[in-house]
Amino acid sequence: MKIKKYILDEIDSTNNFAKQISDKAKEDALIIANKQTAGKGRMGRTFFSPEGGIYMSLLLHPDIMPEKVTDITVMAAVAVAEAIERICGVKTYIKWVNDIYVGNKKVCGILTEGAFNSKSKKFDYAVLGIGINLFDEGILPDELKEIAGSLDKSVNKEKLIEKIVDSFYLLYNSGGNSYIKEYKERSNVLGRQITYCIGGKTEEGTAVDITDDAKLVVKTENGLTIYGCGEIKIDVQSLKLL
Ligand code: BTN
Repeated sequence: MKIKKYILDEIDSTNNFAKQISDKAKEDALIIANKQTAGKGRMGRTFFSPEGGIYMSLLLHPDIMPEKVTDITVMAAVAVAEAIERICGVKTYIKWVNDIYVGNKKVCGILTEGAFNSKSKKFDYAVLGIGINLFDEGILPDELKEIAGSLDKSVNKEKLIEKIVDSFYLLYNSGGNSYIKEYKERSNVLGRQITYCIGGKTEEGTAVDITDDAKLVVKTENGLTIYGCGEIKIDVQSLKLL
């Protein structure tokens, strides 16, 4: 895939960089950094981004309705999971919505941000940010020790990035939602007890399905509930055998 690339040693956030160039860059672009000083995660959190990891953002110009922006994240999750498996030779899982796991550890997070133009009713642009952990687990801050893990640091980063970009564009340009089948097959959530969290509220249940538009179906004591966004917690110990 021929695409303009910006290779940076250090930046606050590759997503921010992509937004800054979006005025001038009318074509898609790929931004890659070796370290982020203010990496952004979902829900306003920071993303731990020490030197040596893969911090990449794709500046995209999707012609989609606002509610379809989650599709980009879901396609990216499938593309990253496939690419890690192919290049690193380890089995990967997807935790709804967009975390990539190896065993019981999160090795990659994805954050998509869109700039919707209410006049044109289109996105001026969207930024797909992908962060892949490549570090010695000893340097993890205490709050991440239980949750986060790293891929083997000797991975060929260029090859992995190229595979991610190629796999993503295959899905992005293909139309349709055939990727949902693979998304479900890679889920480490289906059939498990989860806690759903949004805006300070929590609800317990069993994740029973993922719909064709990537919503999570949860069986609770009050019946079935369908969640379109938010975050779930899952007992990481139960993932150990994966
Ligand atoms: C999450 O797990 O909450 C999402 C993390 C997304 C991190 C990536 S790293 C590249 C891009 N730039 C950022 O500031 N965030 C995303």
